[in-house]
Amino acid sequence: DQPQGSPGSRRPISVVAHRGASEDAPEHTLAAYRRAVEDGADALECDVRLTADGHLVCVHDRRVNRTSNGRGAVSSLELAELAELDFGSWKGRLGDEESPETESREHTSVLTLERLLRLVEEQAAAGRRVELAIETKHPTRWAGQVEEELLRVLARHDPAIPVRVMSFSARSLHRIRAAAPWIPTVYLMQFLLPRHRDGRLPPGVGIAGPSIRILRNHPEYVAWAHREGHRVHVWTVDDPADVELCALLGVDAIITNRPRRVLDQLDEM
Ligand code: G3P
Ligand code: CA
Repeated sequence: DQPQGSPGSRRPISVVAHRGASEDAPEHTLAAYRRAVEDGADALECDVRLTADGHLVCVHDRRVNRTSNGRGAVSSLELAELAELDFGSWKGRLGDEESPETESREHTSVLTLERLLRLVEEQAAAGRRVELAIETKHPTRWAGQVEEELLRVLARHDPAIPVRVMSFSARSLHRIRAAAPWIPTVYLMQFLLPRHRDGRLPPGVGIAGPSIRILRNHPEYVAWAHREGHRVHVWTVDDPADVELCALLGVDAIITNRPRRVLDQLDEM
């Protein structure tokens, strides 16, 4: 089992920036991930979807309508079309007025998984270890293709990058494990179903990913999962009372939209 938190860190709980530092910057943009790194996050969370021409981009919703000035499903748009869109303005101005135009455009345009991996590599080259937690979002129509492309992209990057794959779909995690059993996997759970009650996970999955709602209603879940030898990564934890609950229960990672504030709270405990 891996140690909790980052190597060298005195904090027992790892803090994961959900869609980047998405409370302060537009989610899933380079700006949000750079902010998360500056804020001290131990790991970065991202959702990945396939474009019409087969690239993996970091977008949560099926459509781009909420987070860009465009319309339509990610799967119906090509990467070049997505690259024309602005994924930053919906969140308001970014404050970094002194950035050259090219840099600020890159900061708020669609983010490919490739570019996010490069950011993590750039950090590693500068001596900063940041983990990457990639969640597969995959309509049935794309069954298998998201995982295949994800593994192809990872194969083009430094194998030392600490990557894990998360999903609500046991089948998606199974595909990853079958092809790349060395990649840690996280099984996400929104509600506690009867089959989850003993803390067991789908075969080969090492990390439980319960919602904070599960822990509010069933705080005993953390002990169940730990007894089965699983780490527990909880999402999405923004409320200070929930951070306190997570610390009390001894979870292994907190996934949050506000990494700096959570780190400050944990440091004060
Ligand atoms: O980290 C898990 C969490 O991101 C799952 O929910 O909808 O934000 O992808 P969602
Ligand atoms: Ca997610």
